Amino acid sequence: MNQNIALLDHPLIQHKLTLLRDKQTGSKEFREMVSEIAMLMCYEATRDLPLKEVDIETPVALAKAKVISGKKLAFVPILRAGLGMVEGVLQMVPAAKVGHIGLYRDPESLHPVDYYVKLPEDVREREVILLDPMLATGGSAVEAIHVLKRQGVQHIKFMCIIAAPEGMKTLTDAHPDVPVFCAALDNHLNEHGYIVPGLGDAGDRLFGTK
Ligand code: URA
Repeated sequence: MNQNIALLDHPLIQHKLTLLRDKQTGSKEFREMVSEIAMLMCYEATRDLPLKEVDIETPVALAKAKVISGKKLAFVPILRAGLGMVEGVLQMVPAAKVGHIGLYRDPESLHPVDYYVKLPEDVREREVILLDPMLATGGSAVEAIHVLKRQGVQHIKFMCIIAAPEGMKTLTDAHPDVPVFCAALDNHLNEHGYIVPGLGDAGDRLFGTK
């Protein structure tokens, strides 16, 4: 597999993903699972954050200990399904800022167009983890990364729960510098744009709109 793709197949993630895929799982449980999977994935996606040593005093002795140094994070969900991952990642990194990118598909050109972009003012100084649970065609992810790069962001990671091979290829071809973290690489996209076997429409299942 491409070096820039990390398949996070920890047993806890796989177990929760099975619950997520099951069509019997209702919105409340679905939301909880998306959040918990995002939290576990965030643990891996932040593994390379640099540390620095500080002097502290424990109740027993003086000690040298490590804290995360310098690099500040921002999470950016792609609307709307990416919102479901925000709570989980913020539990891991509560000090991170959160931006939002909303995209729609132009009915004529079929290209994604950004209708809403709100990012932290200092986003270019932050490492950005872009969130979208489903990497289907890859069109939204590719465009959202263009939006971030146009703002001057230099360190971007993409985190999704399920990817289709088609979307993964489109994304890694367009942005080979962006590491991708996913929990499952599924079979294919069907003629309606759904990932197979997938989990259906993540946004609808998160927000109970279907
Ligand atoms: N978006 C979804 O929510 N589900 C899919 O299967 C594909 C795109």
